[in-house]
Amino acid sequence: MAHVYIEDIGKHEGEEVTIKGWLHNRRSSGKIHFLILRDGSGFIQAVMSKAAVGEEAFKSADHLSQETSIIVTGTARADTRAPSGYEIDVKSFEVVGESHDFPITPKEHGVDYLLDRRHLWIRSERQQAILRIRHEIINAVRDFFNGRGFILADTPIFTPAACEGTTTLFPAQYFEDQTAYLTQSGQLYNEANAMALGRVYCFGPTFRAEKSKTRRHLTEFWMVEPEVAYANLDDVMELAEDLVVSVVGRVLDKRRRELTIIERDVTKLEAVKKPFPRMSYDDAVKKLQAKGLPIEWGGDFGGPDETALSEEFDRPVMVHRYPAAVKAFYMKPDPDRPELALGVDVLAPEGYGEIIGGGERLADLDLLLQRIKEHNLPQEAFEWYLDLRRYGTVPHGGFGMGIERVVSWICKLEHVRETIPYPRMLYRLYP
Ligand code: 4AD
Ligand code: MG
Repeated sequence: MAHVYIEDIGKHEGEEVTIKGWLHNRRSSGKIHFLILRDGSGFIQAVMSKAAVGEEAFKSADHLSQETSIIVTGTARADTRAPSGYEIDVKSFEVVGESHDFPITPKEHGVDYLLDRRHLWIRSERQQAILRIRHEIINAVRDFFNGRGFILADTPIFTPAACEGTTTLFPAQYFEDQTAYLTQSGQLYNEANAMALGRVYCFGPTFRAEKSKTRRHLTEFWMVEPEVAYANLDDVMELAEDLVVSVVGRVLDKRRRELTIIERDVTKLEAVKKPFPRMSYDDAVKKLQAKGLPIEWGGDFGGPDETALSEEFDRPVMVHRYPAAVKAFYMKPDPDRPELALGVDVLAPEGYGEIIGGGERLADLDLLLQRIKEHNLPQEAFEWYLDLRRYGTVPHGGFGMGIERVVSWICKLEHVRETIPYPRMLYRLYP
């Protein structure tokens, strides 16, 4: 019999098909079992009548419990009442692996209970929908850059030095006498790659030994980082804007079913169109002060500040020109006001805060050397990076977009812990 995935069932109406999956749920009456099957591609109801399968088989199905793996053969029948539009009339079935007392039932469980069983929790319909949307977002990101002439150039995960500040590094013993650090960002290598290839991006896991326990922080997260030779801050902002519009549009286009499952209000996503408002840090501070938040000029924004700013708009807002003192050593100072850095943060609407950080890089050798000293960074470790300014330096820029932050916003989740199969957080390294 033809093995068919539930998502393709529509192509097999009236045919006898085989579904290989798991039992999600079962209801039974005296003469009929209603089995909800799932196979990773979808959910479907299989109707098993005593008349069709015989007394003995019917009786054995009495004991089938949640998450038993099962192969079912039967006829695909259109049914307008069914969520998938189809049902299976069962002719025969075979149990592959039993499952007793599956720990995650349709009743409410606490989040710690669920996170301890994350390897099983991901089987739920909602978690599957979120992971499918994550997959779509990642594909959309790749297609966006590949379609614009960017080259994917991978950057290392073991690195000898910090990129985003020395306080959030994870050390790893590197053979006998060296310490490596798990990368916080591929940016510095990305800059070298951009000098070779023009337009590049890297896309991989990044690590922050952050002790913050917020709904936006993971210690391991995936970041996509484009870097463009000869780009200035305005170019970087435009690229970020185009990327976000493209990703949101793709999810709306391809993942309606999943958005419905998680009950996302899609009108909020449909509002994400160009142009995104641009706001200077100066104006952002004034706005926050007017709202009564205790921010002073010169301070970095915290979660509540970002939330307050992003709530003003129906689409992402781009805040640019932060005080250089709160930003990384590699940012180019504004030539008109050197106390400002030519950086930008993109804040998502609905209170989700920063999803993108980036800007124009410091391309001048002497100034960069000075910054490395001011930040107490070991110059030897950055000699290769300084070479980029010694051999044909050019203006350039780029940004990093955190995938989990984007998934969290697009799915409107309470916390980033549900955006990745196995979240890594301050107090969580298991499973
Ligand atoms: O703003 P960040 O720290 O910027 C950089 O790392 C730059 N070097 C990127 C670049 O210009 N190439 O991080 C970029 C993005 C943030 O906007 C956020 O979306 C995400 O990475 N991010 C995190 N996501 C989850 N958990 C964390 N702890 C995160 N830290 C940053
Ligand atoms: Mg940032």
